[in-house]
Amino acid sequence: MLASIVATFLAAAAIVSAQTSSLVASAPVVTNNPIGANYNANLPVQTKNAVRGSVVAQSNPDGKGVLVNVAIAGLPLEGGPFMYHIHEKPVPTDGNCTGTGAHLDPYKRGEVPACDSTKKETCQVGDLSGKWGNITAQSLSASYVDEYISTNPADPAYFGKLSIVVHSSNKTRLSCGNFTTIQAGDVSTLKPAGPSSGYALPTGASPTNNTLSLSATATGTGGESAQNPTATPPAPNAPSAQPSSGAQKVLAGAGALMGAAAFAMLL
Ligand SMILES: *[C@@H]1O[C@H](CO)[C@@H](O)[C@H](O)[C@H]1NC(C)=O
Ligand SMILES: *[C@@H]1O[C@H](CO)[C@@H](O)[C@H](O)[C@H]1NC(C)=O
Ligand SMILES: *[C@@H]1O[C@H](CO)[C@@H](O)[C@H](O)[C@H]1NC(C)=O
Ligand SMILES: *[C@@H]1O[C@H](CO)[C@@H](O)[C@H](O)[C@H]1NC(C)=O
Ligand SMILES: *[C@@H]1O[C@H](CO)[C@@H](O)[C@H](O)[C@H]1NC(C)=O
Repeated sequence: MLASIVATFLAAAAIVSAQTSSLVASAPVVTNNPIGANYNANLPVQTKNAVRGSVVAQSNPDGKGVLVNVAIAGLPLEGGPFMYHIHEKPVPTDGNCTGTGAHLDPYKRGEVPACDSTKKETCQVGDLSGKWGNITAQSLSASYVDEYISTNPADPAYFGKLSIVVHSSNKTRLSCGNFTTIQAGDVSTLKPAGPSSGYALPTGASPTNNTLSLSATATGTGGESAQNPTATPPAPNAPSAQPSSGAQKVLAGAGALMGAAAFAMLL
């Protein structure tokens, strides 16, 4: 009796999870970013660790996607690979990173399954390291065009009033910083965007021991040490992706919910 109930549950869960994996919620490509919009998030100097840096994000010159320049340094030798995400809330005034809540996930895709970087539209919008790569050394200097985040305050994927959080692999929040508006941009004026590359890593010693260590020792499981912090960030390239239909999104949302329930039953 019990066995047959369990078997029924397992069969139902298998069907639901098969549906879920083929219908993961998708984020649309953002094409109406105000030209010239420019935001900056600084990771503050802290006493608890030496992590510091910035994420500068500005509308891509054609308004399609956002050019992101990441410069993070001072990561610890232990605890990698490190992840960084846009979170759904700003940093509280006391700087406590816990208060930034969860990842920016306007299409409610959830944490599972893990982001597949070959299908960026299916990842949480705020999961930058899932889409563009973990930090596998003590620093990262990277540039890319993310087509799913937005500099348009009316867009659900708008990050301008939110925050960046850097995590160690066990999810500990190492540092966080608010995005602040450098320029809001102008939808009606098609002026060229500002600087597009060459953001330097933070330098200089801090009041605490913030000596910039450029050791490229990989702490990641992958063992790559390819991220050369002194290298010029690669030229931004626009990933190609197909936005999915609204109907597919609705189905995917329901599928994800059922999948989560099935997953919980299995535990
Ligand atoms: C998580 O990793 C950090 C180092 O990044 C370490 O200080 C902390 O103790 C770890 N926490 C747990 C719960 O393992
Ligand atoms: C982050 O921004 C919010 C407003 O959006 C502000 O209340 C908060 O003080 C800021 N946090 C820090 C650490 O400056
Ligand atoms: C940070 O905020 C969380 C709740 O959001 C709280 O549990 C934690 O104690 C706070 N940490 C510090 C150091 O204040
Ligand atoms: C990135 O690191 C996290 C742990 O920090 C790990 O769970 C995840 O699988 C890694 N992603 C990739 C693509 O290696
Ligand atoms: C500061 O950190 C660097 C490496 O990050 C280390 O070589 C140096 O000895 C440290 N200095 C102090 C005073 O702890």
